[in-house]
Amino acid sequence: MEITASAPILIFDSGVGGLTVYDALREILPHAPVIYAADLAGLPYGSKTEPQIAARVAGLLGRMAERFRPRLVCIACNTASTIALGMVREVLEVPVVGTVPAIKPAAALTRSGTIGLIGTEATIRQAYVDRLEAEFANGTKLLRIAAPEFVGLAEAKLRGAPVDPAPLRAIADRLRAMPGGEAIDTLVLACTHFPLLADELGAVFGPDVALVDGAQGIARRIAHLVEGQDMAAALPNRFVITGPVESAAGLENALAARGFAHAEQF
Ligand code: DGL
Repeated sequence: MEITASAPILIFDSGVGGLTVYDALREILPHAPVIYAADLAGLPYGSKTEPQIAARVAGLLGRMAERFRPRLVCIACNTASTIALGMVREVLEVPVVGTVPAIKPAAALTRSGTIGLIGTEATIRQAYVDRLEAEFANGTKLLRIAAPEFVGLAEAKLRGAPVDPAPLRAIADRLRAMPGGEAIDTLVLACTHFPLLADELGAVFGPDVALVDGAQGIARRIAHLVEGQDMAAALPNRFVITGPVESAAGLENALAARGFAHAEQF
């Protein structure tokens, strides 16, 4: 397939969480043409079933790939990636980069040997996570907990709302109360929304707990895959959402700061 200079990198998430991957990518490839797609009509994915998520993500990405002709697709969502990455790769003709919990770097970092992992309800029950644990966290203790309310907090924060620390404290307390939980020194943010709350999570967990997410690693992977390709960004980049444009109300500043013009409906 011939890649035109304006062919975008399509970054997809259920909401604004994938902007953490977008931000990391812009650090390395500031001039890459990007279309960011948020499935706000489907948010949150974390409370959906595996068949619902797989059908929705594969269907939407198929239609988006047809419309936008991307050079590469990034599923910037742990929930969608741990469930539907294989299926999406089968239906799309372009490279598909997924976002999976950063267990490998966390295992390399921990000194106490105890790692916490926060993600959506759907992500933490995936066999994909079991496999990552068996492969990379062998010999360390991995304690998983679902923190679905953090998704809404991150969405609201990007729309300018203050973050209530109470739900963050509650999750920290529950994690530490798990057997061996007091030894957690490394926390995997296994949902792309969560690094948007890094300051608040850092304040709650304290300076002795390292927060680890995959955004930089994913960005490097994308940059590697498009290396040497002709690129001409048709700036500003595009921010596309499913559902009514009103659901992006309040995001104007966050979008402008990232070089997007305005939210468009898919
Ligand atoms: N940002 C998504 C993830 O990485 C999930 C948010 C949702 O529940 O839709 O897991």
